[in-house]
Amino acid sequence: MSENKKLWSGRFEKTTDEMINAFQASIDFDKRMYHEDIEGSIAHARMLATQKIISDDDCSKIVEGLKKILAQIENGEFNFDIALEDIHMNIEKALTDDIGEAGGRLHTARSRNDQVALDTHLYIRRQVVEVQKLIVAVEKTLVKAAEKYRSVIMPGYTHLQRAQPILFAHHLLAYFSMLERDFERFSGVYQRADIMPLGAGALAGTTFPIDRQQVAKTLNFKKIYSNSLDAVSDRDYILEFMSAASILMVHLSRFSEELIFWCSREFSFIELDDAHCTGSSMMPQKKNPDVPELVRGKTGRVIGHLMALLTTVKALPLAYNKDLQEDKEGVFDTIDTIKFSLAVYAQIIEGLKVKEDNMMKAVEEDFSNATDLADYLVKKNLPFREAHAISGKIVHDCIARNIYIKDMKIDDFKKYSDLFDEDVKEAIKPETCVANRNSLGGTSYRQVEKQIVNARELIVKQENLIKKGQ
Ligand code: ARG
Repeated sequence: MSENKKLWSGRFEKTTDEMINAFQASIDFDKRMYHEDIEGSIAHARMLATQKIISDDDCSKIVEGLKKILAQIENGEFNFDIALEDIHMNIEKALTDDIGEAGGRLHTARSRNDQVALDTHLYIRRQVVEVQKLIVAVEKTLVKAAEKYRSVIMPGYTHLQRAQPILFAHHLLAYFSMLERDFERFSGVYQRADIMPLGAGALAGTTFPIDRQQVAKTLNFKKIYSNSLDAVSDRDYILEFMSAASILMVHLSRFSEELIFWCSREFSFIELDDAHCTGSSMMPQKKNPDVPELVRGKTGRVIGHLMALLTTVKALPLAYNKDLQEDKEGVFDTIDTIKFSLAVYAQIIEGLKVKEDNMMKAVEEDFSNATDLADYLVKKNLPFREAHAISGKIVHDCIARNIYIKDMKIDDFKKYSDLFDEDVKEAIKPETCVANRNSLGGTSYRQVEKQIVNARELIVKQENLIKKGQ
């Protein structure tokens, strides 16, 4: 047992129980913040030197030593020790072992409480951008598919009942709009993570003449926490990340659900690429949509992490409590899960094949043009309520006769209203129904073209935002 390694062992007579050591250590998961920890420590050391709190010579040794450790970790040559609890103490101990006394000066005017907060801010800020890049990648595949299938008509649904004909592209672009908001939400998370906590010390600030502005500038933070207690206790930005992640997953899960039933035999609207599906070990005919199913399933897990952290932080007194260490595994898993889900989704959409004929059949062999039939009469000046009643009666009678509206002769129509003319045939064609819904944001060909143009423009803006920083 490497008990003598504890950096805080001064006031203790006994060594830590082995099981307690294992229970409280976070090194197994917080080691993924090694880069941020070193980055933060270098900025801190340089500030200490500028402020003459440590010598320039000690600062150079610290910075060189930390860079060496960074390289060791990246080459897989660093030994993480559970007795040293977390990434912060693992690195500090290795530094002191390497450079001696100067290493012991690094933690001047700093606590692990503001250090861990700094690391997590840096980490989340970086991950937000990675997530946003993946959101844009999925958006691009959606726009590409919308362009490819720009004239494909399908039934739009309410209550999962065929409602009105829409363009398949319109349906895809609804998901684009959701992702657009997701992107914005993550930009909001970025702003709340873009606040520098270092200098809060354990909770109350420090007795040393530190310069928090310098650290913030070096690490490119827009703001600095104005209250030290808040700086070490704030986990809002992590909760916001998880909440934005949960909403994103909810969107993907809705899309997944649709993909799953669209590729069922009952719908047969689409086919997923063979490379994205799996077979059954028993039933030779099966081609299962595992990927959308898994994304749907993983949504529960991401929402679960959000609930867990909300519950952890609820009623937690100020300032730092070890409970807060529980923020990490959940958010790390959230990050991995949403990044993976977005990455596979881009592929799924790319590989999607549309069965246009089946979609059209589902429109033609049903009554989703009944609203258009009513609208036809309204345009001939009949009040909508009366037109609705007539169209409803026609649907009722068609069902009884086992035909569709399109099968009716003009004389049949005239029995219901003498406002009907030959042009009714044209008015109830799926293409006309779609083309006529030309109100802003509607499903008409023109509106969908506009959505595609706007989407392309938005993607350029989002990419610029990613490039130049938020
Ligand atoms: N591993 C700890 C965490 O993740 C770091 C901060 C520890 N602070 C302390 N006072 N024990 O929260």
